[in-house]
Amino acid sequence: MGEDPGKTGGRICPETLGHMAQDLVNIVVYQWPIAADIMAGPIAIHLSLRLGLNDGRHDVSNCAGTGSGPDKFPGCRRMRMSITLAFDVYGTLIDTRGVVAALSEIVGDKAGKFAQTWRDKQLEYSFRRGLMRNYENFAVCTGNALDYTCMHYKVSLTKGQKKELLDGYRTLPLFADVKESLTRLRAADFQLYAFSNGRADAVETLLIRGGIRDLFRGIVSVDDLRTFKPDPGVYAYFLSRSGASGLTAWLVSSNPFDVIGAISAGMKAVWVRRSNEVVFDPWEIDPTLTVGSLDEIEARITEYRAKAHPIHTVNTKMPP
Ligand code: LAC
Repeated sequence: MGEDPGKTGGRICPETLGHMAQDLVNIVVYQWPIAADIMAGPIAIHLSLRLGLNDGRHDVSNCAGTGSGPDKFPGCRRMRMSITLAFDVYGTLIDTRGVVAALSEIVGDKAGKFAQTWRDKQLEYSFRRGLMRNYENFAVCTGNALDYTCMHYKVSLTKGQKKELLDGYRTLPLFADVKESLTRLRAADFQLYAFSNGRADAVETLLIRGGIRDLFRGIVSVDDLRTFKPDPGVYAYFLSRSGASGLTAWLVSSNPFDVIGAISAGMKAVWVRRSNEVVFDPWEIDPTLTVGSLDEIEARITEYRAKAHPIHTVNTKMPP
């Protein structure tokens, strides 16, 4: 019988101890924020109501004596939690096919396929670097993926063409539905964040160029953790950075792997399916909601919440 490689003469070898320590660190760093977050919402609500406080994130409007059911009791308050939306950037707010026009000048009618392979490889490289714990930022994945795609299609770029394409990636356009939809969501008191594999400075540049930076409360980049989506740690990191709870935080993404990653890590998620050609991964996890465009989000989330929590009523009259 072969010897257990983790043990040497009945003792655990230093390498195995190292792995165990790493696992422990992962549990403490990545898992407890999810558990703490799930508990934090109800505890905060309970305390704020007991103490008569409203921390500004909860819309508490007095509805004493109106309606039926619990609403008919004096001293009851209706409470609506503010919703936090974490917008994926590349492929959801920003159209990665914006490079196709520049590519057509270089590779002609292969431009569409070239752009798709470039994008697929960029994501594959991010997944692999995350798993290997061999982090280089997303722009490096983009550059390496461009080199691969050139080799695959037997295209030889000049230095100038390569620079032009990579600069093009830093200045990609918004999808047409973004500006108006986000402006309306912001006006309706949704808390908007950009949440991306891209570095914060790269995302900031794209949002400023698109004229939508001011709509966001913040940009959360996985670069801070030196790993990529769909590592569960990045979704927990989003919750801790935004101060949102898994119960009220929604990812909004066109990328099925991102939607599945967020739900698997305890968030809700809207899948943005702008084209019927795109299919969702046939796993055991489905999107919480699917929309054809960003302008459906407000109505769909509001409807979902009304069904899931028909009345949020808490009797604030505490016994003496
Ligand atoms: C992002 C990638 C997934 O923006 O496109 O996070």
